[in-house]
Amino acid sequence: MCGIVGYIGHRDSQNILIEGLKKLEYRGYDSAGIAVYTDKGLQVKKAKGRLAVLEDQLTGAPLSGSIGIGHTRWATHGKPSDVNSHPHTNVQKKISVVHNGIIENYIQLKEELIAKGYVFESETDTEVIAHLVSDLYEGDIVAAVRKAVKRIHGAYGLGVLAENEPDKLVAVRMHSPLIIGVGENENFIASDIPAILEYTREVYILNDGEMAVLTKDGVTLTDLEGGPVSRDTYRVDWDMQTAEKGGFDHFMLKEIYEQPKAYRDTMNPRIDGGRVVLPEVGMTADYIRDIRRVHIVACGTAYHAGLVGKTVIERLTRIPVETDVASEYRYRDPIINKDTLVIVVSQSGETADTLAAMREAKRQGARVLAITNVVGSSVARDADDVIVTLAGPEIAVASTKAYTSQLIAFYLLGLYFAQTLGTVDAGTVSATIDAMEKLPEQVERVLDQADVIKRVSEQIKDVDNLFYIGRGLDYTVVQEGSLKLKEISYIHSEAYAAGELKHGTLALITEGVPVIALATQEALFEKTLSNIVEVKARGARVLGIANEGDAEMAKSVDDVLYIPRTLPLLTPALSVVPLQLLAYYVSLARGNDVDKPRNLAKSVTVE
Ligand code: G6P
Repeated sequence: MCGIVGYIGHRDSQNILIEGLKKLEYRGYDSAGIAVYTDKGLQVKKAKGRLAVLEDQLTGAPLSGSIGIGHTRWATHGKPSDVNSHPHTNVQKKISVVHNGIIENYIQLKEELIAKGYVFESETDTEVIAHLVSDLYEGDIVAAVRKAVKRIHGAYGLGVLAENEPDKLVAVRMHSPLIIGVGENENFIASDIPAILEYTREVYILNDGEMAVLTKDGVTLTDLEGGPVSRDTYRVDWDMQTAEKGGFDHFMLKEIYEQPKAYRDTMNPRIDGGRVVLPEVGMTADYIRDIRRVHIVACGTAYHAGLVGKTVIERLTRIPVETDVASEYRYRDPIINKDTLVIVVSQSGETADTLAAMREAKRQGARVLAITNVVGSSVARDADDVIVTLAGPEIAVASTKAYTSQLIAFYLLGLYFAQTLGTVDAGTVSATIDAMEKLPEQVERVLDQADVIKRVSEQIKDVDNLFYIGRGLDYTVVQEGSLKLKEISYIHSEAYAAGELKHGTLALITEGVPVIALATQEALFEKTLSNIVEVKARGARVLGIANEGDAEMAKSVDDVLYIPRTLPLLTPALSVVPLQLLAYYVSLARGNDVDKPRNLAKSVTVE
């Protein structure tokens, strides 16, 4: 979380920094700031609030100069305020720092620095870095930063600028993403590619423990000891349009509507002649035969994809699967050995909890397969095998197309294992693939019913509570639907296993309480219908979602939406779509900032 941009070159930097930060606001948006080397020396402007507040302040009093750093914040240490915003500076205001991550030993360092007479202005951990670098500065900013990072523990992506050396920008990475954009007579640092894509497609993706020194004319990569690092640049093969709204009011809506394409892009290159081909998974047939258990580990929406993944892999392969929230996994002392395959799922590939869980699994001898949307991300680089979801950049904080592409990845992986193990026959594999190939067009048919969802969103927008219910795979999908609603509408909702309601939560169902009921699992339809009747009898107002042809649903509920029929295992790829739309329209009706919900960030790089 937090977004960093830095520029050194021949153009005026302010606009480049601000426009870059706009592309990174998904990483945090409670305050923003820039530092620019101007003809009056190093100058800083920062402000609490959205980037627009800072932009307003700069309109009347721009900072002019061709080297600068900028930051958009998601608060960890210290509430959002002008003074806690980045960049932070040393006491003389001659060294300026932007930081993404958490400095774990900042209290100890702060006490040391205070004892030496340094005066702190903010409550942040980042300010420690500015004073520490200053304390170690002997006329060489690169050497001072190198010494400083040896003293700090934790996660950091750093950009550092010193007034006395206005010909260079220093960047360091440790457990927080950072890339370097290479241009002509200009170079860039950024937390993520979209921030600099307007200017260059050639990037270095820094590894943990690497430092980059940028001048106008070049980039030098080293390790933290100063030893040379040589690496080719990575050429970005997508363009800005994919990271822009393209006529939609919000990124989230655009991304919901991009799902048919994301399905095709993720699926098509991996299907050949009625079989799944996964050349990126380098497991031998012997290895796959020896897998005794699978752990799926992820956070947030990716965790919900993992819940579907559990059912998919178990049904297709009969290998036992557990799905864990990454922040819990390490601490529950999981049973991991060399027969355990750990699958980590992460859209960004940078989620700190997921990375930490993955490293622990590797340490204990597991093989790790990553499902991620970002080539070159930390998760992708540290895993043994990587399936990249080809959903394209996802900007809205509430994840949609990344989730459904993760489902596609699980279907492909489950089928691939099943083919190898012979746990399902070739006919079933090819029938499942046929059904998967129909999903994109079927999603379009669900999207065509957005009007039903808009109508229901009007009924829901003013309630304080609502419930989602479902059984089996429907239960996993309603968990995602409920999270989506909470994230962007701020309405409290709970997802319940439909059969479990009667064991307590039914007490909360009173006249007019909305219930969203999913009943797409053929074998469970009658049972879920009984649960729907039970909530109806207690006054609930029910939106039922079922397969086309299940006409009894319409008779039992207030509003109904039918999804096209597919195989039961594949229904999550369709049934989640109305739930995504519902969250979107309720958020919109409540006047919320759909793409940037309060208190959240898209990429959570702190534990
Ligand atoms: C954040 C986002 C969620 C996301 C989760 C995991 O909390 O707001 O939308 O599901 O991180 O992110 P990842 O990039 O690992 O999938």
